[in-house]
Amino acid sequence: MSKHEKFAFKELSEIKKRVKELGVEIHFQDDLSPLSEPVRIGNRKALNAFAVLPMEGCDSNQDGSPSELVRRRYRRFAAGGAGLIWWEACAVVPEGRANPLQMMITEENTEKFAAALKESRDAAKETMGEDFEAVHILQLTHSGRYSRPSGTKGSPIIAQHDPLLDPRGGISESDPVVTDEYLSSLPEFYAKAAVCAKRAGFDGVDIKACHRYLMSELLAAFTRPGKYGGSFENRTRLLKDSIRAVRKAAGDDFIIACRFNVFDAHPYPYGFGCDTEEFWKFDPSEPLALVKMLCEEGIDLLSNSAGNPYYIYPQVTRPFDLSSMGIPVPDEHPLESISRAFSFTRMIQEAAGDVPVVGNAYTWLRQFIPYVGAANLADKSCRFVGLGRSSIAYPDAPKDVLSGGRMEPKKCCITCSKCTQIMRDQGRTGCAVRDAKTYLPLYQEARKAAEARENKADKERRS
Ligand SMILES: Cc1cc2nc3c(=O)[nH]c(=O)nc-3n(C[C@H](O)[C@H](O)[C@H](O)COP(=O)(O)O)c2cc1C
Ligand code: SF4
Repeated sequence: MSKHEKFAFKELSEIKKRVKELGVEIHFQDDLSPLSEPVRIGNRKALNAFAVLPMEGCDSNQDGSPSELVRRRYRRFAAGGAGLIWWEACAVVPEGRANPLQMMITEENTEKFAAALKESRDAAKETMGEDFEAVHILQLTHSGRYSRPSGTKGSPIIAQHDPLLDPRGGISESDPVVTDEYLSSLPEFYAKAAVCAKRAGFDGVDIKACHRYLMSELLAAFTRPGKYGGSFENRTRLLKDSIRAVRKAAGDDFIIACRFNVFDAHPYPYGFGCDTEEFWKFDPSEPLALVKMLCEEGIDLLSNSAGNPYYIYPQVTRPFDLSSMGIPVPDEHPLESISRAFSFTRMIQEAAGDVPVVGNAYTWLRQFIPYVGAANLADKSCRFVGLGRSSIAYPDAPKDVLSGGRMEPKKCCITCSKCTQIMRDQGRTGCAVRDAKTYLPLYQEARKAAEARENKADKERRS
């Protein structure tokens, strides 16, 4: 591994040179035409190969419906012209919300989702033309260990005890793990949420199994007894049952996607996709078995992610220049982190065959994203170039590339982790740098509130 370095490239030749020096596998190509090629997803067609990755704002209305901030976010995403818009985490049950303002779709608020979606589709028509229709997917989630449905303290729902993660969540050895009975009730809630999403006009849903939320933690529940733990079959049972329940309730003409963790970067017997002796070493056997299972279940769309954004190695999921508070700067060059993420996508796309895979971890590359994305599409490493932080910083990037062949360096995300910091501070998040008029005050407000909480906790500890 090489030392961490901040982004400092002005010319394409400079970043190419650094890639060569580091000996990492990141390719570039000048022909950007693969980015404007349509991509088939189930019975739908995305009109280009850009995808907006799910980016949670923690800013819905109390009832889980889209607030004005949420609606603004999706109008901006849609107007930016991406062919696929993967809506952020949306809870299927109230106790599984990651924060009191996480989106949650219910029979009562479905019409509000429909209105937000229509606004978003209309915004795309304004900038991209009357015939433009993006594919819209809603990510369904249960936050498990990271549930915080009310207040400032979490109410974790854990699949298994974990000596590294439990102390960070204030979980003690005597706290119970979630029951099999509770888990077996969940597929019905995924199905209900999917039916609401279909009624609202979404083209499909994602059953989220990444970033160590409930479904992701279950994939690694090696120590859990009973029908949801231990063997691979047991650990994937809830995911499989939820896919089947959604398919039965929402029908064949509805996309079912899965965003899953390929590699947790977490020690055995608590991490998925990791070597049993050395957790930094990737073991592809189970992730590949999972892709096989998902394809056999008729999954229409995949996105691989990795790591745990709440733990100390967020570079595995989102390489950065500056880390959020309390997170060490990794002993790894961001280009190495990106190359690792690309290698996972390449492997998953190869195993998934015709099922499209959305690649991620591009944002750190800034204005050079199109050259790398086009190369990955051309050599079939993925079918979509997914943009996360880039989308909240620079939502128009796809349009700028498709119409003008370039991204504007001054609009690019600078991977400063301020949006992550707002989330950690329990605020409403967005880009505090490129969308500063709206989000810098929210960043400052959340920082102040978090500092006050920390000071209070400190005082209590000392007295
Ligand atoms: C503020 C913030 C919110 C996010 N919300 C979600 C989410 O709701 N669901 C999800 O699967 N990933 C979420 N992610 C992860 C991103 O989708 C993406 O995988 C990650 O940022 C890496 O891609 P990038 O380098 O393009 O940013 C979030 C990331 C950030 C920084
Ligand atoms: S705050 Fe803006 S510039 Fe900073 S990492 Fe987030 S999206 Fe990028």
